[in-house]
Amino acid sequence: MGGRPGLSISFTVLHILACLTVTRTNITPDFHSRTNTTTDQYALLALKAHIARDPRNLLAENWTAKASVCYWVGVTCGARKQRVSALDLSFMGLRGTIPPEIGKLSFLSSFTITNNSFHGSLPSELAHLPRLKIVDIANNNFSGEIPSLLNFLQKLERLVLHGNNFMGTIPPWLFNISTLKHVDLSHNLLHGNIPAPAEFGNIEEIDVSWNQISGSIPSTFWNMSTLQLLYLGYNRLSGSLPDDLCQRLTFLQVLAVDDNGLFGPIPSHNLSRCRELNALYLWGNKFDGRIPKDIGKLTNLNWLDLGFNNLIGRIPTDIANCTLLEVLWLPQNYLTGEIPDEIGQLRYLRFLSLGANNLTGTIPFSIFNNSVLQALDCKNSLSGRLPPTVGRWLPNLEVLLLWENKLDGPIPSSISNASGLTTLHLSWNSFSGVVPAALGNLRLLQSLAFKANFLTTESSTSEINFLASLTNCKYLKNLWISENPINGLLPTQIGNLSSSLEIIYADFCNIKAAFQWKLGI
Ligand SMILES: *[C@@H]1O[C@H](CO)[C@@H](O)[C@H](O)[C@H]1NC(C)=O
Ligand SMILES: *[C@@H]1O[C@H](CO)[C@@H](O)[C@H](O)[C@H]1NC(C)=O
Ligand SMILES: *[C@@H]1O[C@H](CO)[C@@H](O)[C@H](O)[C@H]1NC(C)=O
Ligand SMILES: *[C@@H]1O[C@H](CO)[C@@H](O)[C@H](O)[C@H]1NC(C)=O
Ligand SMILES: *[C@@H]1O[C@H](CO)[C@@H](O)[C@H](O)[C@H]1NC(C)=O
Ligand SMILES: *[C@@H]1O[C@H](CO)[C@@H](O)[C@H](O)[C@H]1NC(C)=O
Ligand SMILES: *[C@@H]1O[C@H](CO)[C@@H](O)[C@H](O)[C@H]1NC(C)=O
Ligand SMILES: *[C@@H]1O[C@H](CO)[C@@H](O)[C@H](O)[C@H]1NC(C)=O
Ligand SMILES: *[C@@H]1O[C@H](CO)[C@@H](O)[C@H](O)[C@H]1NC(C)=O
Ligand SMILES: *[C@@H]1O[C@H](CO)[C@@H](O)[C@H](O)[C@H]1NC(C)=O
Ligand SMILES: *[C@@H]1O[C@H](CO)[C@@H](O)[C@H](O)[C@H]1NC(C)=O
Ligand SMILES: *[C@@H]1O[C@H](CO)[C@@H](O)[C@H](O)[C@H]1NC(C)=O
Repeated sequence: MGGRPGLSISFTVLHILACLTVTRTNITPDFHSRTNTTTDQYALLALKAHIARDPRNLLAENWTAKASVCYWVGVTCGARKQRVSALDLSFMGLRGTIPPEIGKLSFLSSFTITNNSFHGSLPSELAHLPRLKIVDIANNNFSGEIPSLLNFLQKLERLVLHGNNFMGTIPPWLFNISTLKHVDLSHNLLHGNIPAPAEFGNIEEIDVSWNQISGSIPSTFWNMSTLQLLYLGYNRLSGSLPDDLCQRLTFLQVLAVDDNGLFGPIPSHNLSRCRELNALYLWGNKFDGRIPKDIGKLTNLNWLDLGFNNLIGRIPTDIANCTLLEVLWLPQNYLTGEIPDEIGQLRYLRFLSLGANNLTGTIPFSIFNNSVLQALDCKNSLSGRLPPTVGRWLPNLEVLLLWENKLDGPIPSSISNASGLTTLHLSWNSFSGVVPAALGNLRLLQSLAFKANFLTTESSTSEINFLASLTNCKYLKNLWISENPINGLLPTQIGNLSSSLEIIYADFCNIKAAFQWKLGI
């Protein structure tokens, strides 16, 4: 080839002349489009021929030569050129492969086939489509490696390969595509390290969660100033987060590194620069040290999940400066000290989990005055009594887990005012007094446990009221009341307990029956 330069030059000249001729003779755009929609038709019919299953006969009946491809289902044409500009075959239940002919849809800018059963490898001919901006093939069954030719798609903005079986490593060129804004490789079988981008254009979202990616997070990531969403969770990453993570990531909205092997302290420097951050998921790593006081500078935070780490020290009261918090999840750490009263001031808090720490003191009263609270989990070393109004202002509470503390005093009957309760676990405390019969007002109750307390009943010679009242709880599945000096008579209504009841533990309670009781009758 190198020896015949003359030939290629004259070919180019001819080619230019041909183009000029075409312009001069003023061939109508119609002719243009017809010829080329024919190319598109050829490519789409090739795709149709590779579809083995089309349960709703969408393509079978619709993709026929009777009409222009521009009228085919899932096909959009550009207004001017009448060429296929977008293909959207999402949620059609199709099974098949993508043939190389896809590379002939030369005006295609959006290729979306989410939630089907396409399999095989992604043809590298996709790289022949210079206008491609969107490739979304999420939730299919593609396998093999991510084709390296995608590198040539210099207009690519959105690459979504979520939920396939792609193997190999994250291609090193990926973050080099300067137009790329969203890349989602989550739920695949990718391994190896995250490549360090040499430079970063406009990337806003990176999701590589749910793979088998290892190594540390490249430090260049923390310079990607356009980044908004970073999901790295459920991998095998190690290393630490930089203390000044917020220095350049001023648009960051979500940082999720949950369920990895990261360690070291939680970033604490200049956190106020992450002014958009609304979700921070550090769950399930080995982060240690204290929760930084400056976490209170993340004033847009809705969701803070630091559970299952090695955090020590007190919960900083400054956490209450995150006034928009809806979820505060700190279980399974080594936190000590008291629960700050200020947490009760978080008016949007729906889920509060402080369980499996070493917190002491009482549960602040303010926590029980929260009309949006849905779940409270506080297994610790807490002491004191529940306020007499405990359930009065908790209309949305569904789950209350206070087991394995050192709480004492009675179970206030106002607990029954929390009428949405489905799960009430009070086992392994020192509650005493009479079990309130009002428990039966909790009509949605599914699981009730107060094993190993000092609870009793009105009199040893009368029927146990609370058991009788529980016959109102039609959804009750589990009942654990063992190891209490309940000491009463089994009510005759016992046979009317929920038909969904699966488990009942009432040993070491000194309950007597004045009749013969057979379960299931
Ligand atoms: C049809 O499109 C191809 C590339 O997509 C182009 O090279 C060719 O000139 C077009 N044909 C006509 C007749 O316009
Ligand atoms: C194909 O589907 C499109 C969009 O639903 C519809 O407008 C068109 O009439 C259909 N064509 C045929 C031949 O069924
Ligand atoms: C999409 O596919 C995923 C995985 O195959 C499935 O879990 C999900 O329910 C599907 N979504 C819809 C709306 O069909
Ligand atoms: C994906 O492929 C596997 C095996 O090749 C098969 O068992 C599975 O059902 C496929 N899933 C879908 C959604 O087609
Ligand atoms: C990424 O871009 C940089 C600079 O533009 C270049 O040096 C590097 O080779 C590129 N990497 C890949 C894998 O293409
Ligand atoms: C991040 O950017 C700063 C300032 O531009 C530069 O000094 C530093 O070397 C960069 N860090 C990395 C890891 O690229
Ligand atoms: C970052 O924090 C340091 C002190 O920790 C402070 O001097 C500096 O002004 C802060 N930078 C910004 C941009 O807030
Ligand atoms: C939280 O708010 C209090 C009272 O407004 C203030 O004194 C404290 O410095 C704030 N904490 C942080 C970390 O900004
Ligand atoms: C928590 O407290 C208990 C009892 O005081 C103690 O045995 C345990 O070692 C403490 N755990 C931690 C992690 O501090
Ligand atoms: C409960 O909180 C509201 C504000 O949300 C407050 O007005 C009310 O006084 C509080 N009730 C009690 C008993 O503290
Ligand atoms: C709380 O429940 C009791 C009975 O269990 C009921 O008499 C009372 O009206 C309820 N109070 C509120 C505020 O719902
Ligand atoms: C159980 O319920 C049935 C129907 O609601 C009722 O007729 C019966 O009297 C109840 N039995 C007891 C022991 O309460």
